[in-house]
Amino acid sequence: RQTLEEVKTKIQRGMLPQWAFTNHDIYERELEHIYAKTWNFIAHESEIANPGDYVTRWIVNDPILLLRDKDGQMKAYLNSCAHRGMQLCSADFGNKSTFTCPYHGWTFNQKGELIGIVAGNKVYGHEMDKSQWGLRKIPRLESYRGMIFASLNPDAESLEDFLGGMKWYFDIMLGRTTNGMEVRGVPHRWIINTNWKISSDNFGGDPYHTAMTHRSTVELGISPQDPLYASYGHQVVLENGHGINLCTTKDGGTKYPYQGLPKELWGEFEQNLTPEQRAVLYKTVVFVGSCFPNLSFVSPMHGTGGPDEPLTSFVNFRTWRPLAPDKIEVCSWLLVDKDAPESFKEASYKSYIGSFGPAGTLEQDDGEIWTRVVDASKGYMIQHKDVHYDNVLNYIMGLDRVEPDESWPGPGVAYPTCYLDAISRAFYEQWVDMLLASEA
Ligand code: FES
Ligand code: FE
Repeated sequence: RQTLEEVKTKIQRGMLPQWAFTNHDIYERELEHIYAKTWNFIAHESEIANPGDYVTRWIVNDPILLLRDKDGQMKAYLNSCAHRGMQLCSADFGNKSTFTCPYHGWTFNQKGELIGIVAGNKVYGHEMDKSQWGLRKIPRLESYRGMIFASLNPDAESLEDFLGGMKWYFDIMLGRTTNGMEVRGVPHRWIINTNWKISSDNFGGDPYHTAMTHRSTVELGISPQDPLYASYGHQVVLENGHGINLCTTKDGGTKYPYQGLPKELWGEFEQNLTPEQRAVLYKTVVFVGSCFPNLSFVSPMHGTGGPDEPLTSFVNFRTWRPLAPDKIEVCSWLLVDKDAPESFKEASYKSYIGSFGPAGTLEQDDGEIWTRVVDASKGYMIQHKDVHYDNVLNYIMGLDRVEPDESWPGPGVAYPTCYLDAISRAFYEQWVDMLLASEA
């Protein structure tokens, strides 16, 4: 098998070994050297708005109990009882001041302290020091613009350093209105038989697939006939494997300014965004991208503004939780501007359900494709390619040809087209760098 150094050189030349999607050894290394090292998105602050609110989430196989304590502080614990390991809280969300384990009934408070033991005084004596048996804390917990991330790595860089230039774009999508965003409904979850890198890379760097994969939207008259329609705009490569596409219409603008957001909010944009950020928001039809490793987002506008088809706009964040080399659980949050009118929020929610919700048309298109990529990547020829075959996949679009747009007002290296494999190459370079760091 070729070395990861050789793989890295290939990625830089726009070639990815296809076994990267299905190899079990690589998968185990990803969990340890990527997911256990980096920041993982787990929730939005609006999900735990009040003291006592909690949600349960996963970072791959680590169960997380995230709550807001009575002092308003966010806390994250391993959702596994310190006695014999039972999953402490099995609800998805709720409001509680204490958590009692279903196995033997130990009770923990919001500070993670063990405060109650069934028959405690009768069955334990001096051997029990309750202060030693609290919930285990998740090492790092930070948020940016309401987006809560956790890390299992005590030495992880700060969340702000991790996000880097992505903060500027999060400011536009999440901080454009004064009171920020709120999650509408609860996050949807579903399983796709694919590899986490395929979905993350698809959202991050692959607007090229839309004309074919989402052909039905063209046939329905929702998307233009022009096969280049998703190429207009900028693809921006950011640090740490992150990337974002800011898609416009062919003439570099949009039919409805400010992403179709209601006019009553426009004044807030003036206060909250810089002129450069407003210029980007003004022109963009769709924001779509990924934060390495597995947080993706899409923020499209939709509608004509006519009486039957109101303008809608939402931000959909989703994580691709690895369950196996060929299996992920999608967790998908719908965010809308808190300050928007209720009718706009509801219309935007419906627009999300019909497009990127679990049964949404675009979602179905993508899931089908991603499943078949993995199905076609498991065989002998793929797994043994280094011996007999040169089984690399093609990520060469624009390589050494498309030059950055020096006039781009935001952070990152911006290219004047979204049909480009620049983000994908950076994504896989980050991937191989993290695996290589584990060998050093
Ligand atoms: Fe939780 Fe025993 S495992 S009380
Ligand atoms: Fe798609």
